[in-house]
Amino acid sequence: MTRPEHLQIVLREESDTYTRDGIFWRPLDDLMGTGVLGGTGESWAVSRKVLQPVFTSRNIRALTGRLADTINAAVDELDPAAQAGRPVAAGREMARIVNQTVVRIFFGHKIRSAEIARLTPAFEAVIASLAFRVLLPFMPEALTPRGRSYRAGIRAIDDVMFGLVEKYRDDPGEGLDIFTALCRARSAEGSGLTDQWVRDNLVGMYAAGTETTATALSWLWPLLCRHPEVAARLYEEIDRVVGGDRVGPEHLSGLTYTKQVVQEVLRLYPVGWQFPRMAVRSGTIAGTPVKEGQSLLISPYLTHHLDYVWERPDEFDPDRFAPERSAGRHRYAYFPFGGGPHQCVGNHLFHIEAQLIAASVLSRYRPEPVGAVPSRPAMGRTLRPEHELEMRLVPVGGRT
Ligand code: HEM
Repeated sequence: MTRPEHLQIVLREESDTYTRDGIFWRPLDDLMGTGVLGGTGESWAVSRKVLQPVFTSRNIRALTGRLADTINAAVDELDPAAQAGRPVAAGREMARIVNQTVVRIFFGHKIRSAEIARLTPAFEAVIASLAFRVLLPFMPEALTPRGRSYRAGIRAIDDVMFGLVEKYRDDPGEGLDIFTALCRARSAEGSGLTDQWVRDNLVGMYAAGTETTATALSWLWPLLCRHPEVAARLYEEIDRVVGGDRVGPEHLSGLTYTKQVVQEVLRLYPVGWQFPRMAVRSGTIAGTPVKEGQSLLISPYLTHHLDYVWERPDEFDPDRFAPERSAGRHRYAYFPFGGGPHQCVGNHLFHIEAQLIAASVLSRYRPEPVGAVPSRPAMGRTLRPEHELEMRLVPVGGRT
């Protein structure tokens, strides 16, 4: 399913008929449980109602100072390698920076370093085995590749999460973080919500929010290495807007080209490149009959490369997202975050994170590839570069 007008029917207009269900999601049940990602029907609606307000652009803007501080501190850790001229792995560094950032946004100051140190590798193990579980849904767990590390990862996640929930659920206190919002909803009188519900939402959001963001950002570096003209404009903007400062909320409104670059990265490589829907009753889409029980595969990757929608679709051209060139584009020509009632709640958070990370790194360093620059995606559960990009970070004229 690729045409924008059909996507609008399935994702929005008739989203009651084409539901997020079916075989693809079942292997994730014990990871996501009854949270906003795993649940359906009533349990999804309750979680969505609590989480949506946390993720509005206003609320995310209020968190931008804390986001920027965490990102700048995580980028500081690149400095020893940069000063020594030692290459770093772009994808791995993005994952590290994103993980540190997301944990702060999710838990504020309610999580300790020892808990973070247990949580991060546990999530890595679980996410590494997800691809097999999605591809081999009927295989018994003991036979699924990485089945055991998946189970151990889930146990460690549960220990940390339930520990935190127990500590804070009755007295969540103040805080704009996601954990506090979930604990407040849980403790509200008559909510009927459980510790398991808080855990399921935290786990689901973490899984949905870290790997996607890190993978999307890992594309930025090979694209800049391959497109020096885009890189030059981006550096000019960041030098002008951020200069030698530490990046902060006050810089965001000036980073308009940076935003376009990020949008174009997600057009070429929408990391959630395919996701399913199932028809719960028979219907028709533009005259084509669809039978009850039939699964439909939706692919932002294919739609973003349609040549009757996009001029020279394979080219990296951030100017497509300049306001004058975006006017009149179909809402579903570009949908890296899905659409309709299940539209990604992390959209604003992603954009702010991505702009701050790009500006924090590039105000201090210029990337230079060491070895091959990946040019093709490896199509797994997400759309990642075919191999790691090793790059040297050259300090910008005396700044670090
Ligand atoms: C580049 C980054 C991201 C991409 C490309 C992405 C993509 C998507 C897509 C395509 C969907 C729709 C799935 C469907 O309709 O079946 C979705 C849903 C969702 N995403 Fe994201 N996402 C990103 C980042 C995030 C972040 C940072 C968070 C949270 C911290 C997040 C949380 C969610 C949640 C909770 C849903 C389910 C919403 C619902 O069903 O009501 N995502 N995402």
